[in-house]
Amino acid sequence: MANRIFLILFAALSVLQCKAVMPVLFGETLPDTDGKHVNAHGGNILKVDSVYYWYGESRGDSIAGFRQYGVACYTSSDLRNWQNRGLVFETSSQVGSPVESGCLMERPKVVYCPATGRYVMWFHHELKDRGYAAAQAAVATADNPLGPFHFSHSGRVNPGIYPLNMPQTDAAYNTALEWWTPEWRAEIERGMFVERDLESGQMARDQTIFIDTDGKAYHVYSSEDNLTLQIAELDSTYEKHTGRYIRIFPGGHNEAPALFRHGGKYWMVTSGCTGWDPNEARLLCADSVMGEWTQLPNPCRGENAARTFNGQSAYIYSDGQGGFTFMADIWRPKNLADSRHIWLPIQFDADGIPYIQAP
Ligand code: DGJ
Repeated sequence: MANRIFLILFAALSVLQCKAVMPVLFGETLPDTDGKHVNAHGGNILKVDSVYYWYGESRGDSIAGFRQYGVACYTSSDLRNWQNRGLVFETSSQVGSPVESGCLMERPKVVYCPATGRYVMWFHHELKDRGYAAAQAAVATADNPLGPFHFSHSGRVNPGIYPLNMPQTDAAYNTALEWWTPEWRAEIERGMFVERDLESGQMARDQTIFIDTDGKAYHVYSSEDNLTLQIAELDSTYEKHTGRYIRIFPGGHNEAPALFRHGGKYWMVTSGCTGWDPNEARLLCADSVMGEWTQLPNPCRGENAARTFNGQSAYIYSDGQGGFTFMADIWRPKNLADSRHIWLPIQFDADGIPYIQAP
């Protein structure tokens, strides 16, 4: 009951106040100003002056909705009415291009870089016809939030460099070990896959970009065959890694990272690893982005909390005034364009621990 009252108050305030407040979304279709469901998934919202830009995966009409033509952008002045501004980054028709039509561009995140004056888009990049094997991180940049974004580079992360929190001598890649055995798990924890991928660079799949209050940016991604999260520092252009990175929860199978900072702590919501199917969200906490991170119980509460309300974290939007919104996708793998949106306010308990309440 108390929670219902909170949500009604939250909605009422959003109408009364002049400033735009994130509405609650909970899986219904979200028509844009043309009446079509907003086809932007796994992305983020960036506010520039008084305009909100919502970037996300634009999912297509073939191969069971798998096909992607680019990254979509919708704009709004009130976070409620969204205008489709088309694709701000497009796949290429040029054969052999890294972003040749047929590639995947998942979980795009766009940030503004004060040092360069450029808008920087990072995304999980998979090469055409290679499924999820490439596991690369790609960057595209633009001078304008509406693009067009131009492809800059793509690849594995930090080739030839060991994580800060893994002694170089710790693990040797051992192909003889049978997967999922205790011996294999122990070697995964010691960094067997870091060693395997050392020369080519670390795998990067589900990802996000987090900018700290000091302006430093971090790339957080599922690595090591999705078994381990890595956090890599970006340089002042936000376009390149500095080479400083850590691994967290080795073997913990975390996907869909979404971060925010509140109450002097860094918080991260992740999911487990079950493809397009929902699972229980995890809450991670640290005093510093570069660790140590600890895990707390599931932050979701209410109906379907054990399945993240049937969704998977995409981003945590900060309004810059202490308000945070949990953004998630309810994936519809048979028609990904029709995947639904969850936007719920992050609340804090008496101990300052964040939680997300079903409406
Ligand atoms: C879960 C990821 O979070 C999604 O972004 C997508 O890569 C699917 N897996 C693919 O199965």
